[in-house]
Amino acid sequence: MNAPVTHWRGRRVWLFGASSGIGAALARRLLAEGARVAISARSTTRLRAVVDVAPQAMVLPCDATDAAAMAAAATTIVGAWGGIDTAIYLAGDYVPMRGWEIDLAVVERTLAVNVGGAYAFAAAVVPHLIAQGCGDIALVASVAGYRGLPKALAYGPSKAALVNFAESLALDLQPRGVGVRLINPGFVATQLTAKNDFAMPALLTPEAAADEIIAGYRGKAFEIHFPKRFTRFMKLLALLPARIYLPLVRRFAGG
Ligand SMILES: NC(=O)c1ccc[n+]([C@@H]2O[C@H](COP(=O)([O-])OP(=O)(O)OC[C@H]3O[C@@H](n4cnc5c(N)ncnc54)[C@H](OP(=O)(O)O)[C@@H]3O)[C@@H](O)[C@H]2O)c1
Repeated sequence: MNAPVTHWRGRRVWLFGASSGIGAALARRLLAEGARVAISARSTTRLRAVVDVAPQAMVLPCDATDAAAMAAAATTIVGAWGGIDTAIYLAGDYVPMRGWEIDLAVVERTLAVNVGGAYAFAAAVVPHLIAQGCGDIALVASVAGYRGLPKALAYGPSKAALVNFAESLALDLQPRGVGVRLINPGFVATQLTAKNDFAMPALLTPEAAADEIIAGYRGKAFEIHFPKRFTRFMKLLALLPARIYLPLVRRFAGG
């Protein structure tokens, strides 16, 4: 399905949403593996801190809701390095929300960053990948995209959209020589999940998540999900009919 990536030395990588958390850890790991890594997010200061003074790094500050700036960033990378081999969209916003406290401004922002930004990223990157006839793109969604979950009223649907979007992209792009991956992490300890007020099962460090992603790229699979002890359970739950799924999740997650 996808061409395996076993060596990162010299590989031209663009990580969007890499000023902190999983993206920052992945940037550091890939730089250590010898990749050329361009990183984007809003905070220039935090982006610079991630790559320090690594000579093979590029810092391209950009807001996920600015499609024109994203297209310009893609052009800058291609201009500097001659192409893009791996592009990963990690930018994400999460505000816990229940069904009785829908905040439309938060919903709009979540969808704009998590979904709109992913479309803008694909629109910026895919023409270059198609022109090259190789390379790959990945979207970081979440196991929260499999089925409805409590407190994920805005976040969950945004990640479900990414799951569907990535599948559609794979159908179109893989036959044209472009790899497409969907990355679905379980819980990772970052500023994003620091907002959770519940015990997160099988919680990983961002570094462990980065290692899982790199391990996933060694294979050909469309979906990279981790940690398996948690994501396999979530996949099993997702197969259940709603009449069983809903009471079960209510029991696990509490009211
Ligand atoms: N942590 C988990 O348990 C978990 C589980 C499943 C999936 N995920 C997904 O993994 C991805 C990374 O999350 P994380 O946990 O590493 O959280 P994080 O540390 O908060 O990272 C989120 C990244 O997105 C960037 N970002 C947010 N809004 C942006 C915007 N408008 N424009 C550009 N960049 C923006 C942030 O940088 P700036 O603020 O500098 O812009 C940051 O670099 C997200 O898509 C998240 O949904 C996380």
